[in-house]
Amino acid sequence: MKHSLLLMLLLSSSFFFFLVVARKQHALETKEAMPNHYHNLQTTSFLPSSICTPSTKGDKKRGTLEVVHKHGPCSTFSKDMVKPLTVEEILTNDQDRVDSIWSRLIIDTDRKKDAQGSKATLPAKSGSTIGSGNYIVTVGLGTPKKDLSLIFDTGSDLTWTQCQPCAKSCYSQQEPIFAPSSSTTYSNVSCSSTECSGLTSATGNQPGCTSSSTCVYGIQYGDQSFSVGFFGKEKLTLTSKDVIDDFYFGCGQNNQGLFGGAAGLLGLGRDKLSIVSQSAQKYGKVFSYCLPSRASYTGYLTFGSNGAVSNVKYTPFSASKGSSFYGLELQAIFVGGNKLAISPTVFSSSGMIIDSGTVITRLPPTAYSALSKAFRAQMTEYTLTKPLSILDTCYDLSNTPTVTIPIISMLWGGNTKVDIAAPGILYANGINQVCLAFAANGDDSDIGIFGNVQQKTLGVVYDLPAGKVGFASKGCA
Ligand SMILES: *[C@@H]1O[C@H](CO)[C@@H](O)[C@H](O)[C@H]1NC(C)=O
Repeated sequence: MKHSLLLMLLLSSSFFFFLVVARKQHALETKEAMPNHYHNLQTTSFLPSSICTPSTKGDKKRGTLEVVHKHGPCSTFSKDMVKPLTVEEILTNDQDRVDSIWSRLIIDTDRKKDAQGSKATLPAKSGSTIGSGNYIVTVGLGTPKKDLSLIFDTGSDLTWTQCQPCAKSCYSQQEPIFAPSSSTTYSNVSCSSTECSGLTSATGNQPGCTSSSTCVYGIQYGDQSFSVGFFGKEKLTLTSKDVIDDFYFGCGQNNQGLFGGAAGLLGLGRDKLSIVSQSAQKYGKVFSYCLPSRASYTGYLTFGSNGAVSNVKYTPFSASKGSSFYGLELQAIFVGGNKLAISPTVFSSSGMIIDSGTVITRLPPTAYSALSKAFRAQMTEYTLTKPLSILDTCYDLSNTPTVTIPIISMLWGGNTKVDIAAPGILYANGINQVCLAFAANGDDSDIGIFGNVQQKTLGVVYDLPAGKVGFASKGCA
């Protein structure tokens, strides 16, 4: 009796052992048989680096600015200026931005309904949240030109910077605050101009007007940040050869919020007042950028098609999603070469936008659960660990020098399949908590967002006249 029990225990444990080994072997065999569908990574790549390695790509092209991560070693911001955020704080701010994008889309829809004569109530909060996954570019403003680091944002339109005199309050910024009175090319914009009226759609607020008929803008963001000031016109210097005279921008005399040392914001949205629209004559509403794989590398932002990235795969913009956002049509997701069984209506009913300021890509919950399930099935040899904020598929990789992860690809409209680069698949909070960098929306009807982690190292080309956006692999390091 005792013997048979022992035998049974032995048998069952070795059977269990056999099962585990067999599963691991299966996962490894698939990975070895189809190397094209996997990335091999050193786990040390999940550690932050404190040394800046500037990109060599795109820097000599016309109309090109360097893009740096605000919190990385390539940013010139002092550490007292930019409070380093924890990974949890970054992800919490990211959800605030996503919520504010939804509220803006609701406002836009309601405005359209208003125009058609139906009634609508506006939510109290409007505007986008800056979030914390921001990238910055440095531009020159005024004559003589002053360098200003601006947050680069494809999800909003108005470009603004803090201006002296700060009538109420200015937050602290790295560079000296712009003084329009010291520039020979600054002028106020009049309330009667079409540009002043354009503020309503660009900011979500009706412009104000001073007694001397200077147009006053105000923009507030979902996280209670805001900028209010005069609407001005000024010479904007992108590079020595790329100068936009008469650039309309917000000269903010009362500013508050989470801009973390940046002088303001560069609006790259679709609306009439965005820099993309204002520079249409010069650059034909074409721009491209590449976000670097790590905060210790730099990327680029190029205006115009002259700096065209090679091997670009294009997908058409989808029907408009609000007046600022760029819509995309996601059709399917592949994991390790296998197409996930997700009904195409899941993607078509939610829709999707691409946003430079959202960190983590948001998917309809039905799509996300299929994705995480397929990903987990390919990762059985690694140890699952606790969730990280909105990320629920996390691994402890502290005991392995390398990791083999399945390639994730997005199938966009026009049958355009784009592989997400390795740095766009995982988001790490140290080696012992490395997570699948995608998250589920609350509901399948919420709009999806293609975020900046997934865009890393892709050359992303926006061609507005052709109505398409393109992706090229290895756009930057
Ligand atoms: C712009 O308008 C404001 C308010 O009317 C005024 O205080 C300021 O001096 C004007 N600036 C210029 C350069 O005209």
